[in-house]
Amino acid sequence: MSTLETQAINIKFENFVHTLENEDLFDKTKRVDEVLKSGVLTGNEALGMISLNKLSSIVKLREKNGYKHDVIMLGSNSYLNIQNHPKVLKASKKALEKFGMGMGAVSNYAGICDLHRTLEKKIAQFYGTEDAIVFPSGYGTNIGVISALCNSEDIIINDSANHASIFDGCQLSGAQIKIYPHRNMKYLEKILNRIPDNITGRLIITDGVFSMDGDIAPLNEIVELAQKYNCKIMVDDAHGIGIVGKTGKGSSEFYNVQNKIDLNVGMLSKAPGGLGGYCAAKREIVQYLRLYARTYFFSTAMSASVAGGLIEVFNLFEKDKAGRKELMEKTIYLKEKLLKAGFNIGNSQSAIIPVMIYDETKLFRLYQELRSEGVYVNIVTYPAVRRKECRLRLCVMKDLNYNELNRAANLIIKKGIQYGII
Ligand SMILES: Cc1ncc(COP(=O)(O)O)c(C=O)c1O
Repeated sequence: MSTLETQAINIKFENFVHTLENEDLFDKTKRVDEVLKSGVLTGNEALGMISLNKLSSIVKLREKNGYKHDVIMLGSNSYLNIQNHPKVLKASKKALEKFGMGMGAVSNYAGICDLHRTLEKKIAQFYGTEDAIVFPSGYGTNIGVISALCNSEDIIINDSANHASIFDGCQLSGAQIKIYPHRNMKYLEKILNRIPDNITGRLIITDGVFSMDGDIAPLNEIVELAQKYNCKIMVDDAHGIGIVGKTGKGSSEFYNVQNKIDLNVGMLSKAPGGLGGYCAAKREIVQYLRLYARTYFFSTAMSASVAGGLIEVFNLFEKDKAGRKELMEKTIYLKEKLLKAGFNIGNSQSAIIPVMIYDETKLFRLYQELRSEGVYVNIVTYPAVRRKECRLRLCVMKDLNYNELNRAANLIIKKGIQYGII
C-alpha cells in the first residue's frame, strides 16, 4: 500500500464537518483543501473531472490534470439516455425558444406556463392519481413534501437505506423519526406495534428502487402493515420510474399496489433525463403541498425547456417506447457475467448493479484503474453507505452495445481477480 493510500484511510469525511477548538468557521474548508491538494485519495476523486460530450455509451472526459480520454459510461442515472431522444430534444428546443432560459418566478406567482401543468397532468395520469405537483429540484421534492405534511406531533418510519434527502426532510419536519433495517419487515412491524395510540399522524417512507443497492422495497408487505397500523405511505421511486414494473410505471406496479401508495414521489432527473421531482397524490394533498411545501413555494419554477422535454418523455414512457426492455436485457446480461465471475452483486432488481468490494483501499485503487483504462463506474462509500459495505456502483445504460458491455465486464473481472475480490 502506498503512503498516500495509508493516509487516505485515516482521512475520514466526518473529521471535516465540525469547527474545532480555536478554529474559525471556515478553517475546516482549508483543512479539506490541504487534503485535496496533497493528492491523497479521499473518495472524492471525481472532483475536477469534466465530460466533454453529451451523454452516450462512450463519453470523453477531461481529467483534473488535463488528460482527455474516452470511457465506457456505467455511471449515469440517465439509464435510457432519453434526454437525447429526437422527440424530447425537439420539444425542449421549442419550449426554450418560446419561453427563454428561465421562468423568473416561483410557481405560485408567475413562474409556470401551460407546459408545467401539462407535465403535472401527465404524471398524474401515469400514476392514476387525481393530480401531481412538480418541484424544480429532486432533492427539494423530498424536503418539501415531508416537511410540509409532517410535524412534531407526527411519526415517520424509514428504511435505513432511504436517500439522504428523505432523512433531511424528516429532520426538518421535526417529527419523531424511526428507522428499520433495510427491507426488514419484521422490524418495521415491531416499530409500528409500539407507536402509542395518541400518535395518529404516521408515515412510512421508503425508496422504491434503492439507489445504492438497486433492490426494490417490499411494497406489498408495507401496504399490508400500513393498513394494519393506520399509516400513510410515501414511496420515492427516483430509480424505478420508467424502468421497473410490467410497463415501466415503477416499484408500485412491480408489486401491483399502484392505488395503495398515498404519496408517489419520484425524480425527473434519472431515467426521465431532466431535472426536478414530483409528488402524485389526491387532489387536496397536491393543493396543500402547493401552499405548504416550502421548496415549491419559495423556489423558482423549473425551466419550460425542461418541462417541455419531460412531457415527451412521459409520452414515450406511456407507449413503452423509451427502450426499457432493451435496458433490462442488457442489465441482466452484465449481471450474469459478474455473478458468474464470483462477485457479490446484491439483489438488484433494477438497472443499478452494486459490486461489493468491502475494502476502501481496494475500492479506490480499482476505481482509478478502471477509469484510467476506460470504464467509468461510481464508487460508493461513507456517507452514502457504511464503509464496510463500500462498493462499485454500475448503472447500465440502454445505449451500451454488447461489445462495450463485454469490454467493461472483462476489465472489472480482471481487476477483481487481481485484487483478490473474486
Ligand atoms: C432515491 C433518490 N431520491 C432523491 C434524489 C435526489 O434527486 P435529484 O438528484 O434530482 O435532486 C436522488 C438522487 O440522488 C435519489 O437517488
